[in-house]
Amino acid sequence: MFKVAIVNSKGGVGKSTLTTNIAAWYASQGCKTAILDHDSQGSSSFWASKRPPQVNPVQAIEAFKEPYGMTRSFYLKPEAGTQVLLTDTPAGIDLMRFQTPLKEADAILIPVLPSAIDIHAVAHFLRDLFLIGQLPRSSANIAVVANRVRKNTRIYQTLEVFLNRLEIPFVGTLRDSQNYIQAAASGLGVCELTKSRFALEKPGLLPLLDWLHALDTTSSLLPTPADSFAPRSAESQTSEIQKQPSKTVGNNTTTFDQLCGQNTTL
Ligand SMILES: Nc1ncnc2c1ncn2[C@@H]1O[C@H](COP(=O)(O)OP(=O)(O)O)[C@@H](O)[C@H]1O
Ligand SMILES: [Mg+2]
Repeated sequence: MFKVAIVNSKGGVGKSTLTTNIAAWYASQGCKTAILDHDSQGSSSFWASKRPPQVNPVQAIEAFKEPYGMTRSFYLKPEAGTQVLLTDTPAGIDLMRFQTPLKEADAILIPVLPSAIDIHAVAHFLRDLFLIGQLPRSSANIAVVANRVRKNTRIYQTLEVFLNRLEIPFVGTLRDSQNYIQAAASGLGVCELTKSRFALEKPGLLPLLDWLHALDTTSSLLPTPADSFAPRSAESQTSEIQKQPSKTVGNNTTTFDQLCGQNTTL
């Protein structure tokens, strides 16, 4: 199972937006995808519950709740056969408590907003991530994503200079766009909007998806993001959307395995 954690101690920087858009992308590729939602605001869980029937579902586990009648570790387990697990984390994350999930993550993404306050805050957060989170500084699996970017602004250029100076990669640039807001409201990712709307977001998202793809040793048969952005619009091309193999897997395990590169029996 490929595990991705999305973290930043600041609220409102786009953790849930990034989580849901990555989840939608993997789900749209036919990968069985789940979100561990640790934020009591429940944004990712709410998003998952709103996914329309014509797109592949994403399981959401409300990790911020205490389970009844079962152990916590059982409650937090995604469904059998899950291939991608995204962990959405709360603002003010307790890095001591999250040491283990962060160490176990195959990839850690840190969304940052282009503002002086956010640039200052993320510098502190990165220091804490290494000190308190006990992640090695040389980790090749930690990257920053600039979110809500308006390219021709001075503060974006400051953020770009700051991010380029960091010893961790800067792998994506999400535009400040109504597409993210509208997709979120409908339980979709921007990759599931119309082709023309997704075309505006794709250049910023592709490097991020490519970076994840390179770290994902579990899905060697999954097409690279550049190849796989075929039209999969939930808005205009509903009939073209492939249903998630989990629904048809009884008859079609081979297709599922070919798509996701695992010998998974669901
Ligand atoms: N790229 C974006 N373009 C436009 N709005 C965005 C973008 N990213 C996030 N938002 C909006 O900003 C708000 C905070 O984002 P959210 O993902 O909930 O942050 P966090 O999970 O870090 O608290 C939400 O209303 C969301 O819709
Ligand atoms: Mg959130």
